[in-house]
Amino acid sequence: KKASTSISRFPLIPVRGIPLMSFIANNWDSIWAFRPDPSDLLIATYPKAGTTWTQEIVDLLLHNGDAEACKRAPTPVRSPFLEIFSPPPIPSGLDHLKTMDPPRIIKTHLPFQLVPTGFWENKCKVIYVARNAKDNLVSYFYFDCMNLTQPEPGPWEGYIPKFMKGELSWGSWYDHVKGYWMEREKKNILYLFYEDMKENPRREVERIMKYLDLSVSDEVISRIVELTSFKNMKENPMTNYSCVPAPVFDQSISPFMRKGEVGDWRNHFTPEQSKMFDEDYKKQMKDVNIPFRDLI
Ligand code: A3P
Repeated sequence: KKASTSISRFPLIPVRGIPLMSFIANNWDSIWAFRPDPSDLLIATYPKAGTTWTQEIVDLLLHNGDAEACKRAPTPVRSPFLEIFSPPPIPSGLDHLKTMDPPRIIKTHLPFQLVPTGFWENKCKVIYVARNAKDNLVSYFYFDCMNLTQPEPGPWEGYIPKFMKGELSWGSWYDHVKGYWMEREKKNILYLFYEDMKENPRREVERIMKYLDLSVSDEVISRIVELTSFKNMKENPMTNYSCVPAPVFDQSISPFMRKGEVGDWRNHFTPEQSKMFDEDYKKQMKDVNIPFRDLI
């Protein structure tokens, strides 16, 4: 399938040193000026760390596990993506936010230092989801193949150094996970791990519930865990991004709900690539001790 001429892979332009797609960089002043409501919730992630999964859990918690209510619209319509400006049909985050009443579940991939300061001034709740670097990289590689607005991923072996050098959209994974980690206590950020969610989704759904000061029954929690299983979210047209047409997300190249597993990097990294990655990882992560799992 050929991409239509109106869709293009956007170049990256640095904003305070962070490479962002041109349509984000060109609208930076209005994004930075965004003022959330104190009741708004921010879900922040490096791309492909489990954003959509967390958005669905939160929406279900806010609707007491009502599956039908959470099928009222696709994920990006229910939960606006702060810094996105078109391309159609994904609404521009800021325009979209104007049409919604708080409390809103806002998604962002911005690194900590680029999150509009209103979120901190208004003491908004913020959930951060981190995923181990190698699985995150693999997932991002497939995403860059199928999302025809993202920069060309190029071949796999060249993608690994790009990730290591922070040359992808939204910048360095290392700085991203560290930025939120260092601020998590001061800013009351709920810092979650994809691997924990896979290991014991119920425990993590309960953590999110408590963080949001909600209380739902055990039965509702069980239902939410079931509704947000990888299989169910892959089949659910409201969560599987089938709302985005093929000239933008070409799911014949790679489905948005691709694999949903921990450790898939082992099917992609050669032993040499893994060794090179690990050596660099130790250097880049030496100043923090974030408990990532399934990396070696
Ligand atoms: P894979 O490419 O490894 O399959 P994001 O929502 O941040 O873009 O992240 C997408 C990644 O999360 C994809 O990873 C996707 O399959 C996975 N994912 C989405 N929903 C999931 C779920 N309910 N359970 C487990 N993984 C899920």
